[in-house]
Amino acid sequence: MDINENQTSNSGTISRFLGRKKRLIWIIVGIVAFVVVAVIVIPTSIVLTKKKTTTAEVISTTTLTSTTISTEDSTTISAEVSTVDVSFKNWSQTNNMNYPRTAHVASVLKDGKVLITGGLFGSTVLDSAELYDPSTATWASTNPMNNKRYRHSVSKLLNGKVLVAGGEDNNGCLSSSEFYYPEENIWTKTGNMNSQRCQHTASVLSNGMVLVTGGPDESAELYNSSTETWTLTSNMKYARKSHQASKLKNENILVTGGFDYDDELNVVELYDPSTKSWTTTGTMHYARSWHTASVLKNGNVLVAGGATHNLRSAELYDSETGNWTITGSLNFGRKIHAASVLINGNVLVCGGTNLYTNLYFTSSEIYDPSTEIWSTSSDMSCKRYRHQSSVLSNGTVLVTGNGEQTSFRCTADLY
Ligand SMILES: *[C@@H]1O[C@H](CO)[C@@H](O)[C@H](O)[C@H]1NC(C)=O
Ligand SMILES: *[C@@H]1O[C@H](CO)[C@@H](O)[C@H](O)[C@H]1NC(C)=O
Ligand SMILES: *[C@@H]1O[C@H](CO)[C@@H](O)[C@H](O)[C@H]1NC(C)=O
Ligand SMILES: *[C@@H]1O[C@H](CO)[C@@H](O)[C@H](O)[C@H]1NC(C)=O
Repeated sequence: MDINENQTSNSGTISRFLGRKKRLIWIIVGIVAFVVVAVIVIPTSIVLTKKKTTTAEVISTTTLTSTTISTEDSTTISAEVSTVDVSFKNWSQTNNMNYPRTAHVASVLKDGKVLITGGLFGSTVLDSAELYDPSTATWASTNPMNNKRYRHSVSKLLNGKVLVAGGEDNNGCLSSSEFYYPEENIWTKTGNMNSQRCQHTASVLSNGMVLVTGGPDESAELYNSSTETWTLTSNMKYARKSHQASKLKNENILVTGGFDYDDELNVVELYDPSTKSWTTTGTMHYARSWHTASVLKNGNVLVAGGATHNLRSAELYDSETGNWTITGSLNFGRKIHAASVLINGNVLVCGGTNLYTNLYFTSSEIYDPSTEIWSTSSDMSCKRYRHQSSVLSNGTVLVTGNGEQTSFRCTADLY
């Protein structure tokens, strides 16, 4: 969008200028074109070839080239080339949440607003919820939930309601669940789960049921929104918490990693909604927990980070063969980070912590599925972990939660 606007205004400027001093402009254009080729195109193409070009990089290069031509000044050109890294997209702060928090859940609703629920402010567990409106970049508090909770699950039901289940409060894991009806801005209690669950997963199946798994045992259950009841379904083979669940194109749910009480797991299981049963599938190369799992456009699943014994590792699940292959490594080992699949199919990961040194990060990086390479991107405004990233309908990513758990500042960034 920006590129088109730039090009239009440039050609307007150039044609007016041409009318006045035709000969001079041809000389200048000639010099500029020569300099552009010598200073930008040749070195850039060398760099881009080395780096294995990504679409983002090509687009930024185009923007830079058209901007520099409009300056018609060769000294500016070389100055800009040395200071601007064309592969970086910027992060910028947006308005702060009304209630700063981490370990919350962010969900993009049908109308494009982002619902933030629960979480922690220091050691205080929150029942508050709020909505981000991307059109105004503002936050509005909703009515509070019935329960305080963090590390809960949030599922968007087919009927427009938003189901919140389990999580933790100061007394441990919760079995309670409740739903939010955006049109009425009210929270209503619904059936209790059969187990108390936290650090569990929830997936909306195509038949409208919600499958929750683990947190912390091997049990799983289904929520039927017409009866508002939870029913146990078959157990997984392994108890799990801090695992991930991904919905595959064939409707099966892929459950990866997590902890089996003490041990980090590399075993992976599939739930088939039609038979309501679990089967084990290919085993990951590394055991992982607090990792991210992203379903790529081709239907395969990228897991990244979270493997205590190789924090930088990432691997790909082939949904046809059920096999895992090691893919490009992250530039920074991470756990408790966030990942989003961007509109162009690349995967953005940001923040997280390195448990060996207990650092947490501002850094972000992008995975390109066509090259299987992670490129570092720019830094977020603040260090974040236990945060959430959400893709807005226009493709911008909203990241919420400041790693400094009681900071009122810098609680939300846009990418
Ligand atoms: C990124 O943001 C920083 C600070 O907000 C600014 O100084 C810099 O020029 C921006 N870079 C680009 C490429 O937009
Ligand atoms: C997308 O929405 C965000 C949040 O409102 C806004 O900051 C950004 O400029 C928008 N991007 C585009 C390309 O319209
Ligand atoms: C939910 O429960 C209703 C009422 O018992 C039943 O008719 C419906 O088939 C159930 N939904 C699913 C997806 O099983
Ligand atoms: C993975 O690949 C091997 C052959 O390399 C094959 O024998 C196996 O069945 C595949 N699938 C799973 C789920 O391991």
